Amino acid sequence: EKKLIIAIDGHSSCGKSTVAKDLAKKIGYTYIDSGAMYRVITLFAMRNNLISGDKVDENKLAHLISQVNISFQYNTEKQRHETYLNAELVEDEIRKMDVSNKVSLIAKIKFVREKMVAFQRELSKEGGVIMDGRDIGTVVFPNADLKIFMTADVEIRAIRRYKELKNKGEDISLNEIRENVSKRDFIDENRDESPLRKADDAIILNNSHLTPEEQLDWIVDRMNEIK
Ligand code: C5P
Repeated sequence: EKKLIIAIDGHSSCGKSTVAKDLAKKIGYTYIDSGAMYRVITLFAMRNNLISGDKVDENKLAHLISQVNISFQYNTEKQRHETYLNAELVEDEIRKMDVSNKVSLIAKIKFVREKMVAFQRELSKEGGVIMDGRDIGTVVFPNADLKIFMTADVEIRAIRRYKELKNKGEDISLNEIRENVSKRDFIDENRDESPLRKADDAIILNNSHLTPEEQLDWIVDRMNEIK
């Protein structure tokens, strides 16, 4: 059976990774979280004091970025995908609000994107991959076998994210999250390099009123249509 490449793009915090992970588990594919890569570079840049306010020291980052090695591992005990910066487990740190607030500034830098896209393609050589992000169907895999563009009402997305972060014990207000989600969407959609947009041949999934199970069924139906 042919091992497909499935691209899932869309707005911030609309559940792309949840449905991507569920699908990967169900069909035995590899899940690749491209957003985690941009988050790792952001964490690295923050630790090296390369970001002040909305400004990134791109020259220094260009020099230092070769020191960054990103890898992923599935933790069977915790049943979750985990992200590493060099040998360090950074999965929890890269999901925090301070990283979320800066990541779109890092993700609009051309040399960062080129490096990440090369890595994303390298990891997908064998096929059988579900990758979520912002430019997967448009730039990384323009020939993906199935392209989904996910979105949901911004208020619903903010509330979902709020609950998620609260559950993790982060002290955060709904307002802060709403602002972060809108701001990221704005920067992602309006940047010069690989802006977030729906690929012409992507199918839209608005999941404002769908459960994770319904979303999974919907995507499995789309997969069966292309087989
Ligand atoms: O998917 P996630 O919300 O973790 O992505 C974090 C940020 O990384 C996005 O807001 C976007 O700025 C950037 N990103 C990107 N291209 C991707 C994946 C993520 O620009 N393929």
